[in-house]
Amino acid sequence: MSPEMSALQEQILKLKEEKRAIILAHNYQRDEVQDIADFVGDSLELSRRASAIDCNMIVFCGVNFMAESASILSPEKTVLLPERAALCPMADMIHVDSPRPVRTSFPGFDNPPPYVFPPEYSLRDIKKKYPGVPVVAYVNTTADIKAESDICCTSANVVKVVESLPGDEVICIPDKNLSLWAQRNTKKRVIAWDGYCNIHERVTTHDVEAARAAYPNALLMAHPECRIEVLEKADHVTSTSGMLRFAKSSSAREFIVGTEIGLMHRMRKENPEKLFYPLRKDMICPNMKKTTLKSVIRAFQENTYLIKVPEHIRVPAKKALDRMLAIK
Ligand code: 13P
Ligand code: SF4
Repeated sequence: MSPEMSALQEQILKLKEEKRAIILAHNYQRDEVQDIADFVGDSLELSRRASAIDCNMIVFCGVNFMAESASILSPEKTVLLPERAALCPMADMIHVDSPRPVRTSFPGFDNPPPYVFPPEYSLRDIKKKYPGVPVVAYVNTTADIKAESDICCTSANVVKVVESLPGDEVICIPDKNLSLWAQRNTKKRVIAWDGYCNIHERVTTHDVEAARAAYPNALLMAHPECRIEVLEKADHVTSTSGMLRFAKSSSAREFIVGTEIGLMHRMRKENPEKLFYPLRKDMICPNMKKTTLKSVIRAFQENTYLIKVPEHIRVPAKKALDRMLAIK
């Protein structure tokens, strides 16, 4: 570690104590940001921490929807997102009342798949089309979408959440890949939306074949935001922290990691005797990388950027998050 880096880290530790703050970081954050966090985890673990933590301030090193969830769950705390532009593009792929952005191409599909709704559809339109069918919102959504949904889910619990609901059908928004994965693992009919994460969607079965050929002894783990044909070829499909648990408990020594490469930092740190290879080297989420040690310091010094959700949205959104958190 460079002397400048350690000086910044020391400064952060002091500021954190002064403000009685806790730093939460997602598994995709830069290595040095993960290293100053009090807790690093996947979306589900971070939501649980945010709802249970005792502190005045949460500095959330992740993307906007994660800090928003923390603020929804703990409105009495100051929640800061160090980089205002750290957004998840998938969260903007469905709107409550207005049409979603029009897509002109569907990578991986010759034709748009049959469950894709016309671009003029909003969440309210789809709810009208399927009256009474419960809506499951992936946490990668804005607060107003959560407020319009019955329950939230993450990549770690989507199947449990779908199974917990009454009836034979569920609407699952916005990630089509996660929804297709849920469909594979439940008897209920999953009505999906056409959202996707461009970091995971770019992985093809050719990438899987190339990685398998390069690392014939490695097990392949994939995140459910990858396309279904990629997931079908994986040895284990799970959330980011699920991959960490799998790598730790498996007797295998080598792993191909099918998600954003920030996860490799913890993988290697926690399993120094094992080897980890990225499924694709360009699985880098630019939004997750926006937060730096300098932006964390600025967050403390200037109270930037305060994340606060208006009460009329926060209260119903909290209901959807609480229902998810109640599922063990
Ligand atoms: P996890 O909940 O698995 O950490 O994933 C969050 C995410 O944004 C994946 O791209
Ligand atoms: Fe959003 Fe994908 Fe980045 Fe996760 S990796 S925050 S889903 S853009």
